[in-house]
Amino acid sequence: MGLFKLLHGHKARAFEGIPGPEPSFPMGNAGAFLDGRLPWEVCCDFAHEFGGVTLIWMAGQPALVLNDPALIGEVLESSWTNFYKDAPCKALAPVITRGSLFISNYGKGWSKGHAENPFTTLDQDQWLAQQVAPLRKVIKNDVEKFIERSASSTIDLYRDMQKLSFHAFSQAFWGRIFGDEVFEWFQTLARTGDRRMQCRIPPLLNLPPLRPGFYSARSKWYIMFERIVKEARRNPDASAPDMLNQALCHGANLPDAVLAETLATNFFGGVFSGSSTINTSLYMLAKHPDECKKLVTALKKDLGDADSFDIDALLSCRQLDFVLREAMRYYPAVPLYLRNSAKDREVQLGAHTLPRNTMLFISNYYLHRYSHHWPQAEKFDPSRWEKGVAEENPLGSGYFFPYGRGPRACIGQQYGVFYTKLALATLLLNSKIDLNPAQKFNQFFFFGVMMPNGLKAKFTAL
Ligand code: HEM
Repeated sequence: MGLFKLLHGHKARAFEGIPGPEPSFPMGNAGAFLDGRLPWEVCCDFAHEFGGVTLIWMAGQPALVLNDPALIGEVLESSWTNFYKDAPCKALAPVITRGSLFISNYGKGWSKGHAENPFTTLDQDQWLAQQVAPLRKVIKNDVEKFIERSASSTIDLYRDMQKLSFHAFSQAFWGRIFGDEVFEWFQTLARTGDRRMQCRIPPLLNLPPLRPGFYSARSKWYIMFERIVKEARRNPDASAPDMLNQALCHGANLPDAVLAETLATNFFGGVFSGSSTINTSLYMLAKHPDECKKLVTALKKDLGDADSFDIDALLSCRQLDFVLREAMRYYPAVPLYLRNSAKDREVQLGAHTLPRNTMLFISNYYLHRYSHHWPQAEKFDPSRWEKGVAEENPLGSGYFFPYGRGPRACIGQQYGVFYTKLALATLLLNSKIDLNPAQKFNQFFFFGVMMPNGLKAKFTAL
């Protein structure tokens, strides 16, 4: 501590009164994130020990870990323009293009990108209603393949559910199913992005990606999408439900390359988080077979025919809604994200005046399990959402924000809710899933998403 204080003590004055663990030379408290524990669990431990705001040191750089709903509300909602995204911009720029909403910032392209994004310009209720039949067909087709393959092997939920989601997203956004080769390009890009996001030596991010195959995958990926946009623009089809045709007919008039990148970003935005949520739900249902039975009964009653239910039936199935909420409360797919305070001025956060460019860790993990808010918080209990609790805790509220909060919350949220409901319902209505709940729920951080890894299951026809 002595040497650390000598070197960095002057920076600590601005944070006087904020508790935190003792830093040591030269890493500060960064070691807490390096000893194999998941970063959101580390942030949760800080909350238990130090309260809603904790001062930590990432080597010589001070950072705050926020676990207080009011302070998180300031950063993401009431004062959101005082904060910007730094990480993972440099890491992801070569992978998802600099203009992507994920990594653009207010005053630097975000507002325009957000306003012109098809999720903003299209009528989402209308668009989603048209997605039920085509997506259900795509998902059912993959479930049938799972059933066939289960006769001789097990299904690797980590990889196979990503592929199923990739197929469904291909249909929803591009009106076609991309094959394995395109899925592999996607994986190569995502792995490169993930490596860079997890890079522990920031100056290395000034170097271009060195991963073999990255540039080839990247150019094939973007050239293919731009070509598809160009072709569709020649003769856009207003009756085709995919987002590409709908955006061409009713959206903002985006240049081909921008529309291609915008729609391609949707894969990075939702394939990992969506498949994580579905796999988490399947695992929790396997651990709680009574809840699984209850859900299947409700699906049969509320959705009726597995091949012809409409969006109203899907969205009004309360039990399906409660199971997914509870899975996302318990294991949020995106449990941690970062902000920095403005680079050019001090900003106020609660009672504190933050120096320029202070890094903030924001996690929903602790608040989703906060026992003063959620009775028996460690219990997986979909029925906790009954009797008005779902209405009192909407998405984006203080103790439940799996899709983030405020103007920069997930732009794909409505689609994400729809897709996870449709996928879970279609999986359960078309197969019996044997997932041994004794398997370890191995979480790891991939592309900013908590991914359960290693879960295997067998699917049989009903
Ligand atoms: C279960 C599914 C999903 C979860 C849990 C999720 C979660 C999140 C969260 C927490 C954020 C905010 C991150 C932050 O504040 O730094 C976010 C942002 C974003 N999400 Fe999602 N997401 C999901 C699905 C999707 C889908 C399906 C898409 C697109 C099709 C998508 C696209 C985006 C984009 C573009 C942003 C950046 C928005 C902005 O900064 O303006 N996400 N998501």
